Amino acid sequence: MKAAVLYEANQPLVLEDIELDPPKAGEVHVKIGAAGICRSDLHVMKGEANHLLPAVLGHEGSGTVLDVGPGVSRVRPGDRVILSFVPYCGHCHFCLTGRANLCDLHGATPGTLFDKTTRLHKGAQRIHHYGKVACFAQEAVVPETGCIPVAKDFPLPQAALIGCCVTTGVGAAMFNAKITPGSTVAVVGCGGVGLNVVQGARLLNAGKVIAVDINEGKLEFAMGFGATHTVNPTLRDPVAAIKELTGGLGADYTFEVFGSSETLLTAYNAARKGGTVVVVGLAPVGDNAAIDPVALVRQEKTLKGCYYGSSRPALDMPVMVQLYQAGKLDIDGLITRTYRLDQINQAYRDIDGGEAGRGVITQF
Ligand SMILES: NC(=O)c1ccc[n+]([C@@H]2O[C@H](COP(=O)([O-])OP(=O)(O)OC[C@H]3O[C@@H](n4cnc5c(N)ncnc54)[C@H](O)[C@@H]3O)[C@@H](O)[C@H]2O)c1
Ligand SMILES: [Zn+2]
Ligand SMILES: [Zn+2]
Repeated sequence: MKAAVLYEANQPLVLEDIELDPPKAGEVHVKIGAAGICRSDLHVMKGEANHLLPAVLGHEGSGTVLDVGPGVSRVRPGDRVILSFVPYCGHCHFCLTGRANLCDLHGATPGTLFDKTTRLHKGAQRIHHYGKVACFAQEAVVPETGCIPVAKDFPLPQAALIGCCVTTGVGAAMFNAKITPGSTVAVVGCGGVGLNVVQGARLLNAGKVIAVDINEGKLEFAMGFGATHTVNPTLRDPVAAIKELTGGLGADYTFEVFGSSETLLTAYNAARKGGTVVVVGLAPVGDNAAIDPVALVRQEKTLKGCYYGSSRPALDMPVMVQLYQAGKLDIDGLITRTYRLDQINQAYRDIDGGEAGRGVITQF
């Protein structure tokens, strides 16, 4: 099958034929229907995040089940599925305490399936699976718990986006911050994920939603997802601007959704005393943010990380599906560009080049 393979950081993805072995026990063979263009893959491509290489990237995906390995009971051939980049073991401390997004076995098996082997290879060379999804390919073999079934007529691109940016962004607002009605919110970074924090804040009836981005086009786009105010840090100090918009206090909730110490500090400093700062973006490895420990105490801020929207993917992705079907989440409007798999390097130049909304590969 055809796949886009990353052999080395800072080199283009190579579109080529590689082999995919059949599913083993508890695994599912999926024909990929759509794959979203998320910055997390770009971090690996740029060497900003560590990952075993070579690898097939792509973690925001959906598709149709082709066949299943022994013991699989949740899905059958022909089912349409959202792919989760944190499939769960069901037995570890975190799975048992309702935090399957932090599954220990998943964390302990990076780049492979749960049994520490890959189904992807080229001849004798092992090729790793990013997030146990690896959807920048025509097909994938994934753990059964990484398949979230949706109706057979549910659109595949929208399903793919629920696989990462929707659940990550809306979940950050809903499950992590638990935004209360009427509160003030600032979102630093309004790309695919940040737009979903913005629309999550709208859904939760936030009073003010301040979009912060260095790109004017993206700020304008964010207004269509529920932003009530915009701030461009290239034009003025974003912390001062957010304080001005919140009666001098700072925002009740701030979100970092780009991935850098600089934007983390913007979010941290723009939160009011007692406010909550949620970090969603993945900063480059080795980056450090200087937080004043005394100010942290005296201002009683809460600084939290948020992985996969602090969601329980198998339970909460169907919630996103329902919110979309009820017209309460705009996923159609997020999709601004579609590509063929062989245009993937262009798709990544576009996300880095400042195009608003989300790109999706729809032809394999
Ligand atoms: N926590 C998770 O589970 C999770 C899941 C998915 C993605 N992520 C991470 O979230 C981040 C965002 O992903 P994305 O796909 O939305 O990326 P994106 O490139 O679509 O969006 C990032 C946005 O940040 C803006 N930006 C850049 N510099 C800025 C600055 N100084 N101030 C304000 N805005 C700035 C960009 O213009 C862009 O609009 C990435 O780091 C990604 O790896 C985390
Ligand atoms: Zn993602
Ligand atoms: Zn687990």
